[in-house]
Parts: sequence; C-alpha cells; structure tokens
Amino acid sequence: VAAVTGSIEGRPRERQNSGPEAVSEPTPADPATRRAADIDETRRASQAWWDANADDYQREHGRFLGNDRWIWGPEGLDEAQEGLLGSVTGQRILEVGCGAAAGSHWLRRAGAWPVGIDISHRQLQHSRRLDEVVPVVVGDAERLPFADASFDGAAAAYGALPFVADAAAVMAEVARVLRPGSRWVFSVSHPIRWCFPDDPSAAGLTVNRSYFDRRAYVEQDADGRATYVEHHRTVRDWVRLVLGAGFTVVDVVEPEWPDDQREVWGGWSPLRGRALPGTLILVCQL
Ligand SMILES: C[S@@+](CC[C@H](N)C(=O)[O-])C[C@H]1O[C@@H](n2cnc3c(N)ncnc32)[C@H](O)[C@@H]1O
Repeated sequence: VAAVTGSIEGRPRERQNSGPEAVSEPTPADPATRRAADIDETRRASQAWWDANADDYQREHGRFLGNDRWIWGPEGLDEAQEGLLGSVTGQRILEVGCGAAAGSHWLRRAGAWPVGIDISHRQLQHSRRLDEVVPVVVGDAERLPFADASFDGAAAAYGALPFVADAAAVMAEVARVLRPGSRWVFSVSHPIRWCFPDDPSAAGLTVNRSYFDRRAYVEQDADGRATYVEHHRTVRDWVRLVLGAGFTVVDVVEPEWPDDQREVWGGWSPLRGRALPGTLILVCQL
C-alpha cells in the first residue's frame, strides 16, 4: 500500500534568493517536485526505491498487512469479507506488484493457484517468511513474462500501477494474460487525494493543487535524477484505461474508514478517512 515516506506530498521547496556570487554555482534540484517522468526513469527509480526500502516498508506495515490476508488499502477492507474477486477456488490468479505476497498466501489458503510478480527482488524475499511458499517472479508489470490467457483472474492492492509511467501497458498486459471472462481488480490511492497535502492531520484537509495536474510526484537526487516516482491519474483516466484494454467496469469501490480502524498510514488517517475517500478500487471484467 502506497509509499511509506513521501508519497504525494511533493510540495517543492521554496528557493532562497541567492546573491550574484551564487550565479555560477550549479543549483541542486528540488528533492521533491511535480514533473514528467518517463517509462525508463520511472522504472529505474521504482526498482531501486523498493529494493532499498522494502525492509522498512515491511517493518512498518507488515503487521497491518498480515501474512495471509488480502487487504485492499489503509482502510483495511478485507477480500475475505468483500469477495471482489468472486469465487477464487481452483482459479489461477496473478497478484500484480505483490510485495511480500500476503494476498497470494491468502489466495492459496482459499484454494486458488496464485502467482505473484513484483519489480523488487527484496520485496519478494519477504514473501519467504511463511512456511507455505507461493510462486513469485521478479518482473515488470508493463511487460508480463507469462503466456497469453494463462490466468483466470488478476489483482493488485496498490501494486505496480501507481508506480508505472505506462499504465495502459499494464492494462494491456493484464488483459493479454487473462482468459476471457476473468476479473481484474485493483486498488490505488483515491485520485482526489492528489489535490490535498499528503498529511494525516487537519492540514491535509485543504486543497493546495489541482486535481487535474497529471504531473508525477517525483523525489530526486541533487542532480535531478528521480529516486521515487508516483503517477497521478484521475478517476476518468483510470476508467478509460481499463475500457481501452477491453475490460468492462463491474463496480467502483470507495471504502469508508471504519470506526475501529485507528492506524495511521502515511497520509491516511481516521481524521481524513472520515472526510475523504482514500482508496479507489476498480472491479473489472474481460
Ligand atoms: C505499495 S506496494 C504494494 C505491495 C503489496 N500489494 C502490499 O499491499 O504491500 C507497491 C509494490 O509495487 C511494486 N512495483 C512498483 N513498480 C512495479 C512494476 N513496474 N512492476 C511490478 N511491480 C512494481 C513495488 O516493488 C511494491 O512492492
């Protein structure tokens, strides 16, 4: 579930007014900004960031995510209760951007045949914590290393999609590896969150940028090379992406924040959860 540190909070630092002697000095790039980031830059940043931060991510969120339950987002919506994937028994299901593959472990226990894919080798190593091992593959969701029509369903809980420049390629690849009639269910940060500061307190309840600003949130090093990238799409963008790949939209889910969910996850908190949707789930069918 979305980035631990600095997901969409990228408010660029104010530059100090430098004197004339500073003119020839190279100006360090803003550590966090909104700008375009192409496929290669995004892929490089995602792989490096998730490998470097997998241990912290699992330390911070592993308990909430559990070892073998499918949680759709910080609200704690649980697939065992929601059944968004439909009946999974005996189904071959691809978990896209699976991280530690808690969802795949749950699917296996529910009688499915899951396979997880993730760009981060270190994230996948965390899937080896449990006795029962599920098959996982290091790979990019934009170029799935699977045969056509080799799965009966696919799902992603904040997996891969927020972190790719070419979401249309992911949709096309998922459609390619699914059998006709299969479900494709995925969650992402609710797009409305992108016009608010990524702050769990009341400061995160005041709009500070346009919802329609599609530039990516980019953290970068002093030379301007991206170290972390998240891409923003509006609700309509997501719907058009799935329709464009040949899916129909069966349901749109905006989980409400439950009264007994007190855990803060980055910018997701009970305070904001009561006022704003935090997660968007699209239930699609091929
Ligand atoms: C927020 S985590 C979600 C993981 C898991 N579903 C969870 O809830 O913990 C996003 C995952 O997407 C993976 N990811 C990022 N870009 C990817 C890509 N292009 N292809 C496959 N996985 C990717 C990351 O490595 C990370 O494990």
